[in-house]
Amino acid sequence: MPKPAALILAPLPDFLLAPLREHCDCHEYHAAADKEAFLSEIVANVRVVIGAGGTNYDAALLERLPGLGIIAVFGVGYDGVPLDYCRARRIRVTNTPDVLTDDVADIAIALVLMTSRKLVAANRYLHAGLWQGAQFELAGSLRGKTAGILGLGRIGKAIAHRLTAFGMSIAYHGRRAQTGADYFYCESLHDLATRSDFLILSCPGGADTRHLIGESVLAALGPGGVLINIARGSIVDETALAAALTSGTIQAAGLDVFEHEPQISPALLDAPNTVLLPHVGSATHETRRAMAALVVKNTAAFLNGAPLITPVC
Ligand code: 8YV
Repeated sequence: MPKPAALILAPLPDFLLAPLREHCDCHEYHAAADKEAFLSEIVANVRVVIGAGGTNYDAALLERLPGLGIIAVFGVGYDGVPLDYCRARRIRVTNTPDVLTDDVADIAIALVLMTSRKLVAANRYLHAGLWQGAQFELAGSLRGKTAGILGLGRIGKAIAHRLTAFGMSIAYHGRRAQTGADYFYCESLHDLATRSDFLILSCPGGADTRHLIGESVLAALGPGGVLINIARGSIVDETALAAALTSGTIQAAGLDVFEHEPQISPALLDAPNTVLLPHVGSATHETRRAMAALVVKNTAAFLNGAPLITPVC
């Protein structure tokens, strides 16, 4: 019997594709030059769609796949998946939670340290041979400062846990105060920004959070404030952020995610006091392999009629 077809919407590592091929034939749609011709050959056989966290799982494309049964996202964020559409068609959706929590939280801490201690500028300073002329400028310390976390989910909690060890106070905002979370709950994002030295974004992307961080929140964060984003670029109005950095409305920004990855808005590239990373939160050998294993297990479970390991719906 021929294997079911999997439509691959984004470049995926071999350590995901090789074991996946034991369960389905993988068709790399993302790499096809003539997408129409590519699709017309296989539409009827596609049971599985796989892409990355930031992939747009366009409903118009899914609509053309009558046999689609599962979308297995290689990432924890599924903001690119049209969930209502999938529920209506009874298409199952899975993601890769937990296995990436620690690595993503580590990158948030790296960005906090890199921005507060001006480490990128210090590194450039040394390479430019300037140390022989004068000491590098002083930076800001973390102890006693407040980190405001937007979205106290698994990753937000892991960030809070780490920053507590640096002697920081933690406040957070989200849809509701969490019982059992021993951190200060702010009723509004504006309040959180006002209270924060570091405003750290770890909430989901998507329509509900699009451009939550704009001119007024950045003004509330203030001239000593630092914005850190390890979640989704869509949460931040990048034009407003670049303007806030240039005018000194906030002090600095550390970003691992961008609205139009891998394109970076020229305004952000030109803005002062930024540390910009190419979306490396989960990008370790260990974590990406664990994520890949989950994608394969979820797909295999679906194809075998077994319970999904990490279902979204
Ligand atoms: C990955 C992510 O960069 O988990 C997510 O939602 O955005 C990241 O971990 C991506 O999904 C890997 O392809």
